Amino acid sequence: MSRHGLVSLLKAPEIQEFGNRPNSVRETNHYQEEYVQKFVERWDELIDWQARAESEGRFFIDLLKKQSKHKVLDVATGTGFHSVQLLEAGFNVTSADGNAQMLVKAFENAKKHGHIMQSVQADWRWLNRDIDGKYDAIICLGNSFTHLFKESDRRRALAEFYSALKHDGVLILDQRNYDSILDHGFSSKHRYYYCGDKVSAEPIHVDEGLARFEYSFPDGSKHHLNMFPLRKDYTRGLIEEAGFQDVQTFGDFQETYREEEPDFFVHIAQKAYHNE
Ligand SMILES: C[S@@+](CC[C@H](N)C(=O)[O-])C[C@H]1O[C@@H](n2cnc3c(N)ncnc32)[C@H](O)[C@@H]1O
Repeated sequence: MSRHGLVSLLKAPEIQEFGNRPNSVRETNHYQEEYVQKFVERWDELIDWQARAESEGRFFIDLLKKQSKHKVLDVATGTGFHSVQLLEAGFNVTSADGNAQMLVKAFENAKKHGHIMQSVQADWRWLNRDIDGKYDAIICLGNSFTHLFKESDRRRALAEFYSALKHDGVLILDQRNYDSILDHGFSSKHRYYYCGDKVSAEPIHVDEGLARFEYSFPDGSKHHLNMFPLRKDYTRGLIEEAGFQDVQTFGDFQETYREEEPDFFVHIAQKAYHNE
């Protein structure tokens, strides 16, 4: 890990701090204070690697293979679920994340699976400052893009993703179905992403500028994430405005769906330029 990474690990806060007006915390940099050690330690209980692998199947692996993509940058590594899956499937993976504690956990997880993870601490907004080379594919998964609160941060991150890809690279970015939460209220099949059956993940406040989720564990402990509720077409528009083309959106890994039904959307966007 870089010196910068070590310093941020040493300075990392131990408990989540939202102050006495948690619904007013709407800030991109705050993700660093949300992924504290105790929450990072429990993240895998929340997502349950085995159940998640079963629910996603070979979706990402088949997609990348079909497009002959081999060199992948996971920009939201978290505890390493997708990085490890792709390593197991033979891809060349670089694992990035802005949070040093997440990367330490991901490195340990990869080691348990017999892999030495190539990891780099990088905030998306300055991605190309910290990574080397260009990639066939960038994955930004697990509803991570939602952490960016300012539109300028979102545009900046997408521009950095675009620039880190080879000329014909692909971006795979997912999000919760916030349209459904904002327009119809929260419901979840609990089948994708947060698969741990003893853990609950639910919004405790939602408005057009904030989705505050509470994650409750069997021992009674609770953690929170404050996120920006991205509407699907808004995200698609931003991706296109960053220069990507042919943006295709799956709902819960299906090509066809009713808008309010899926819990999650996956956007697949091509950098290859068609001048038509
Ligand atoms: C919801 S977790 C998802 C982790 C993992 N992809 C998964 O599916 O389990 C979001 C991750 O994005 C990272 N992240 C959030 N904002 C970031 C930023 N601006 N730059 C880099 N990483 C960021 C967090 O540190 C965290 O590890």
